[in-house]
Amino acid sequence: MAEPAGIKGMVDIPGDKSISHRAVMLASLARGTSRIRGFLRSGDTLATVAMMRSLGVAIHEVGPSELRIEGVGLAGLSRPDAVIDAGNSGTTMRIGAGLLAGQAFSSTITGDRYLLRRPMARVIKPLRLMGASVKGREKDTLPPLNISGGGLKGIRYPTPVASAQVKSAILVAGMFAEGTTTVVEPMPTRDHTERMLRSMGVDVVTDGREVALHPPGSLAPLDMEVPADFSAAAFFIVLAAAAHGTEVSLPGVGINGTRTGLLTVMRRMGADVRLDSRRDIGGEPVADLGLRGRGLSGTEITADEIPSMIDEVPAFCVAAAMAHGRSEVRGASELRTKESDRISSMIDALAELGVNCGEYPDGLWIEGPSVIRPGRRVDTRGDHRVAMAFMVLSTATGVPIELSDTACIETSFPGFMDLLADIAPPRLTSLP
Ligand code: S3P
Repeated sequence: MAEPAGIKGMVDIPGDKSISHRAVMLASLARGTSRIRGFLRSGDTLATVAMMRSLGVAIHEVGPSELRIEGVGLAGLSRPDAVIDAGNSGTTMRIGAGLLAGQAFSSTITGDRYLLRRPMARVIKPLRLMGASVKGREKDTLPPLNISGGGLKGIRYPTPVASAQVKSAILVAGMFAEGTTTVVEPMPTRDHTERMLRSMGVDVVTDGREVALHPPGSLAPLDMEVPADFSAAAFFIVLAAAAHGTEVSLPGVGINGTRTGLLTVMRRMGADVRLDSRRDIGGEPVADLGLRGRGLSGTEITADEIPSMIDEVPAFCVAAAMAHGRSEVRGASELRTKESDRISSMIDALAELGVNCGEYPDGLWIEGPSVIRPGRRVDTRGDHRVAMAFMVLSTATGVPIELSDTACIETSFPGFMDLLADIAPPRLTSLP
């Protein structure tokens, strides 16, 4: 039902959030100076920068998206003077917990009111098995976390949930442990930590769903460029694919297969997506994405597809609302533990807009194409990806939607509204 929107142009997507976090944490532990170009400067990643500064690392902002980091070596971090604030960022808190577990000093890490509700037992348990003392609120399930580390030993740990944050927390702690640390995943998750550690000279071996790390003597500094963030590009992919007559190009986007499940899904829905000039940037595969809109049809997403599109489900939901036929997502209960409960955030908002849809305990269904009721208010629940998804729906359909909050978009994609306004006719852009 999407109107021909005349959406045409090139969009420069900012750097990858997951890779930016990792670059800051790992470069801080390197011996020597690292240069990170294409760094995503957002609320979440700046929380990681602040955390590493509070641990004694000198991090210089050389330009708007370039950092110079004076690594202090694996033994060089110092005790923070104050409580560390991860803000809204689960990645800062969870991978940060792995890093802090390796330190002989004690520290406390907290977050905003959304992060304080997110599950932490998944990192507390393995870090304790490695020998750290980690305590949390509500019987050690919620933040803030109090961590006293050091004297760790390597473990072999099957993670009960597919989580790159948990895997990375264990691997980072493993760098400070005696002996090998092995993580066995129920399903493969993003492997940016493993790739980056290898590029820094660490012996990390992946064998199927197992990743084994042998503690390094030291890490070589990074000199890298961060690819554009596929999860940010996803909003423009959906916008371009769902409307007719669009032509959008997105240069230099990361296409690591552990992240691009949405591409497979969008193609199944009928999207015309080209991947041109495939190349490697900073040890990650990258391509220029070209999209032409020709409308979409509904599809079913199963549990095995979820890890590679875990952050793209809000964008998928708005694509499904515009597609012909029924769409379904199952095996996705992890969505309930994100910045908001993304199953209920998306379904409540879509229902408010008049979309025929519903929830399952582990997923959702959506019947499209829907006629979107104009002028309705959507509660974003402070969740950046929910806000961006509805900006896309409004822009693609030309129906104004009022959002309870757009400031949350800063956590992952400052500049999103401007980029959207640049390629979409202004009359289609909703205002909060
Ligand atoms: C991330 C992993 C995913 C993802 C998050 C970023 C990462 O979380 O949803 O936005 O950078 O490792 P989980 O590890 O909880 O699945």
